[in-house]
Amino acid sequence: MKKHSMLKAIAGAGVLALGIGLAGCAGDRTGNSAGGEQEAGGTIGVAMPTQQSERWIADGNNVKSQLEQLGYQVDLQYANDDIPTQVSQIENMITTGAKALIVASIDGTTLTDVLQQAKEANIPVIAYDRLINGTENVDYYTTFDNYKVGVQQATSLLTGLGVLDASGKETGATGPFNVELFAGSPDDNNATFFWNGAMDTLKPYMDKGVLKVPSGQTEFGQAAILRWLPETAQKRMENILTVIGGTKLNGVLSPYDGLSIGIISALTSGGYSASDLPVITGQDAEAGSIKSIIAGEQYSTIFKDTRELAKQAVTMVDDIRKGQTPETNDTKTYDNGKKVVPSYLLQSTIVTKDNYKAVLLDSGYYTEADLK
Ligand code: BGC
Repeated sequence: MKKHSMLKAIAGAGVLALGIGLAGCAGDRTGNSAGGEQEAGGTIGVAMPTQQSERWIADGNNVKSQLEQLGYQVDLQYANDDIPTQVSQIENMITTGAKALIVASIDGTTLTDVLQQAKEANIPVIAYDRLINGTENVDYYTTFDNYKVGVQQATSLLTGLGVLDASGKETGATGPFNVELFAGSPDDNNATFFWNGAMDTLKPYMDKGVLKVPSGQTEFGQAAILRWLPETAQKRMENILTVIGGTKLNGVLSPYDGLSIGIISALTSGGYSASDLPVITGQDAEAGSIKSIIAGEQYSTIFKDTRELAKQAVTMVDDIRKGQTPETNDTKTYDNGKKVVPSYLLQSTIVTKDNYKAVLLDSGYYTEADLK
């Protein structure tokens, strides 16, 4: 072979090799090398919304420690419920070479541009607990059965009021019971699932007159609390108390423990004593609210085991990194406007004073000292 044709052959082989390498990368969102070898470890970016609520701290810690156990490094960031902060944290994870992203969004519709960057860098994305909307660039979703969480919240309200018995059967109680309704943050996809589950359960009793809503505020838009802020819920409850005058409330549907705390403050400053508070629901089984349940103030909460949710997200990442397809159990429900995101849904549990020991202490989620 003449010298120049040999050079050409070498260059050609190089181009070919490069071509294969690129093709391998482009078609492969696992970030694995073209030969299919598994890269161990790497850094996983974990974006969480806020540290103002215990549950997200637990989520962050659980995801981090479980990833570390599998040999990953973790870039865990909290965004203080500020959307631009979350966007720039994710951007930073992408530019510093994250191998995958686990994202619990603040506003599910604001990540389209940054997730386009993730896509271009072949970084797979797992939506954590909250669906990310309006983008194709979300690979998997893991959460709880959010509609069912709403059903459970409403069911516990009905049980607390005595409309249903402990086994879920109607007692024949006709009330009328006065209840007020709260919903979560309208930019959180979960909030409408909780609301719809709850309203589908309560509506028949509202229609029969067993439940009455003295304020008349029965629309999601009237009940929603932006960013799930306890102080906003407290203000809304105060306003409602002013509007309904002396009408005594028997129940309040609250979709999150933090809101319940604000609602209880408004009620106690509005003249209710701890022992005659209405039946108040919640969500997340946060330690402060379990204490309130033990003290007989809040009636119920919904326990969502963040250890299990973390495990699901971590397993998804690990599967993708190993070139395996993550397990899903719902491929119909979570349409984000661009695609139906393959999901894994976990189950939640109603917690009251009657079962908190069995559910939260026996499972090791809390120790007795946590609830003192
Ligand atoms: C979560 C709830 C939580 C709420 C407020 C929702 O997206 O699913 O568990 O109570 O956000 O943080």
